[in-house]
Formats: sequence, C-alpha cells, structure tokens
Amino acid sequence: MRIFFINSTFILTFLVLGCQESASKRGNGSPTDGAVLFRQYCVNCHGLDGALKTNGAKDLRYSLLSLEERILVITEGRNAMTGFKSILNETQILELAKYSQSLNQTTQNGH
Ligand code: HEC
Repeated sequence: MRIFFINSTFILTFLVLGCQESASKRGNGSPTDGAVLFRQYCVNCHGLDGALKTNGAKDLRYSLLSLEERILVITEGRNAMTGFKSILNETQILELAKYSQSLNQTTQNGH
C-alpha cells in the first residue's frame, strides 16, 4: 500500500512537470505549415475552403481583415471564436493568418 502511494505521487509529479514543460514550449514539435494547422484547428468551424460558417463563423473567403487583424482574432479569439494563444505559438498563428488570407476570393473575383 505504501509503495503504491509513493508510486502514484511520483507519477503525478512527473505528469505535472510534463505539462509545465509543454506549456512553456507550447506548439513546439507541432507543424508550422498553415494548411496543416488549418485542417487541424479551424475546419470544424470554417471548413476546408473557409466557406463553412458553423456557429456564425465568418466566411473566410470574403474576409477583408489585414494580416495583423487576423493574427489578433486567432490569438485572442472574438465572440464565438475562441483564441488559440494557449495552444499555438506565434509562428503557427502567423502561418494560419497567412493561410486564411490565401483562401480569400475577393481579390480574384472583384467582390
Ligand atoms: C469554434 C468555431 C471556430 C473555430 C474552431 C475557429 N473559428 Fe475563426 N471564427 C469563428 C467565428 C464564430 C468567427 C466570427 C467571430 C465574430 O463574429 O466576431 C470567426 C472569425 C474568424 C476570422 C475573422 C474573419 C473576419 O473577416 O472577421 C478569422 C481570420 C478566423 N476566424 C480564422 C480562424 C482560424 C485561422 C482558425 C483556426 C486556428 C479559426 N478561425 C478557428 C469560429 C471559429
């Protein structure tokens, strides 16, 4: 029984340390490719091409936001969209902002 107690404490400490470790280096070891990240974190609401509007998500094809504004929305979130600053690092957020711009159709179609 005593041994069990020591073991579980050890495992718990190990887990807590492990979480702190990954939180300090958040995003590391994960892809930085915007398209890959977008598929992982954004398609549920925005869809592959940005056109899906789950829960009132904006159609990214017609977003007029600048790169800086996109970074802000992705980092901090806005209304029904949650921010990603606790899961993604700045490089990943930048790549996502750029990728979301690449979905834009307003320039091509003259909307
Ligand atoms: C839970 C659903 C959800 C997820 C997941 C989500 N979004 Fe959103 N997104 C929204 C909603 C809802 C809005 C509109 C927010 C508002 O009304 O202010 C939005 C707005 C945006 C905007 C602003 C568009 C504009 O023109 O105002 C951008 C850019 C954006 N999302 C990018 C992303 C990216 C990149 C990801 C993945 C990292 C992502 N979103 C994940 C729901 C989501």
